[in-house]
Amino acid sequence: MAEWQKSDWRNKPRIQMPDYLDAEALHSVEGRLSQYPPLVFAGEARRLKAQLGAASRGEAFLLQGGDCAEAFDQFSADAIRDTFKVMLQMAMVLTYGAKVPVIKVGRMAGQFAKPRSAPTEVVDGVELPSYRGDIINELAFTPEARIPDPGKMLHAYTQAAATLNLLRAFSTGGYADVHQVHAWILGFTEGEKAERYREMASRISDTLDFIKAAGIDSDNAPTLRTVDFYTSHESLLLEYEEALTRLDSTSGKWLAGSGHMIWIGDRTRQPDGAHVEFARGVQNPIGLKCGPTTTAEDLKVLMERLNPENEAGRLTLIARFGAGNVGEHLPRLVRTVEQEGANVLWVCDPMHGNTIKSATGYKTRPFEAVLREVQEFFAIHRAEGTVPGGVHFEMTGQDVTECIGGMRAVSEEDLSDRYHTACDPRLNASQSLELAFLVAEELSSLRLAGEAARAG
Ligand code: PEP
Ligand code: CO
Repeated sequence: MAEWQKSDWRNKPRIQMPDYLDAEALHSVEGRLSQYPPLVFAGEARRLKAQLGAASRGEAFLLQGGDCAEAFDQFSADAIRDTFKVMLQMAMVLTYGAKVPVIKVGRMAGQFAKPRSAPTEVVDGVELPSYRGDIINELAFTPEARIPDPGKMLHAYTQAAATLNLLRAFSTGGYADVHQVHAWILGFTEGEKAERYREMASRISDTLDFIKAAGIDSDNAPTLRTVDFYTSHESLLLEYEEALTRLDSTSGKWLAGSGHMIWIGDRTRQPDGAHVEFARGVQNPIGLKCGPTTTAEDLKVLMERLNPENEAGRLTLIARFGAGNVGEHLPRLVRTVEQEGANVLWVCDPMHGNTIKSATGYKTRPFEAVLREVQEFFAIHRAEGTVPGGVHFEMTGQDVTECIGGMRAVSEEDLSDRYHTACDPRLNASQSLELAFLVAEELSSLRLAGEAARAG
C-alpha cells in the first residue's frame, strides 16, 4: 500500500464539510496555516496516548469536557478559566472515587466545527444554509452570515493558540494547586442542598491534612501544584486539520498539530469516508463516537483501520446512545471488541443521545437523563467484566441555564435566562460538579465490588 499522505482524504467521499466558493482564498488560507507553528507537540500526544492506555486497563480515568462549540464572540480569559477550574474540581472528586489518576482533556482550543442534522435551516418560511461552527460560517440568520468563509480558519487558529497558552499557564503557574482546588470544592458543598456531597469532600480534607502532616505539600511535591491538561476537538474541517499536520522528526510519524486528541463524530465515521482516512494516518489518540446506528461490522472495520497495530490508548470509543438505550446497543459493541481482542478505551458521552426540545422551545438535556445514561454505561461494563474508562461532557464553568435539573435546579422556564450556547446545551458549573460527585459514587462502588471479588 502506498504510504499515507495528509491530503489523501481529498480522494474520499466527504460529508458535513463546506463547499468554499472562493478557491483562491481557500488556498491562500491553507498556505498560511501550513506555515504556522503546530499547537501541540508529538511528545505530548504520545504521553496522553500512554495515559489513555492506562485508562483502558482501569489504571486511570478520562474526564473530557468543554463547549459543544467554541464561539468567537464568547472568547474570554474568564470563560477559559472557569471551565478549567470546574474540570479540576471534577477531576479531584473523580480521583477520590476511582483511586486512580484522572486524565483531563478539554473540548477546547479547537472545537469550532459542527456537523449538523440538516444542511439548511428554515425560520419563518426563510431557508438558509445551516450554521456549521465559527470556523466555517456565522450563527446570525442572514444569507451573508451563512456563507462559508475560509478566513475564519485563521481566526480559529489564533483563538486556539491563545486558549492553549492560557491553559498551559494555569496548569503550571500555581492556579491548579490541589489546596486551592479543594477549597473550591468545599465552597460548593457548603450549600444546603449539597449535604449528600459533604461527606466525600470532608474525606478529601482529611486525606490532604494527613499527607501534609506527613510532610508532603505543594511546596515540596510539584505534582500537587501542577496538572497535565490536554486539548481535543472533532476533526471535522479537514482543510484546517491537514494544514496543521506535520511530520514529527522524532518518530517519523505524522501528527495532527491542531490538538492533542481528535475525534470522529457519529455522522462522519463512514469506514471509507474522508474523516476516517484522515484520522488513520496521524499518530494522535483518536476518539470515535459510537451511536445507535453503529453496527458490529462497522466497528470491526473501523478498529482495524484506525488502530491496525492494536496500540493501547490509540482508540477511544465514545458511546452516546441516550438514557434507556444503552442496554440495547452497548453490549453487542463491547462483545465485538472483546471477540476481536481489540485494545480500546470505553468512554460515556451522556449528552448527545439525550437532547430534547423543552416546552419553552429550547434545546435542552435533563440532568437526570445524563446521569441515568452514565449509570447504565457503568452497569453494562460491570456485567460484561469490561472497563468503563471515562466520561465526556458538554459543559462550561459559567453559570448558564441550558440543561434542566440538578440540585440548584434549572427549570424549563429558567432556560431563557442565560442560554448562551452556540450549539448544544451544556451542563453549568454546579451541574458539572454535582455529576462528578455522582460518577465518583459509581466509581467507588465499582472499585469496592472489584476488591470484594478479589478477596474471594
Ligand atoms: C459533539 O460531540 O458535539 C457531536 C456532534 O457529537 P456526535 O458526533 O456524537 O453527535
Ligand atoms: Co454537541
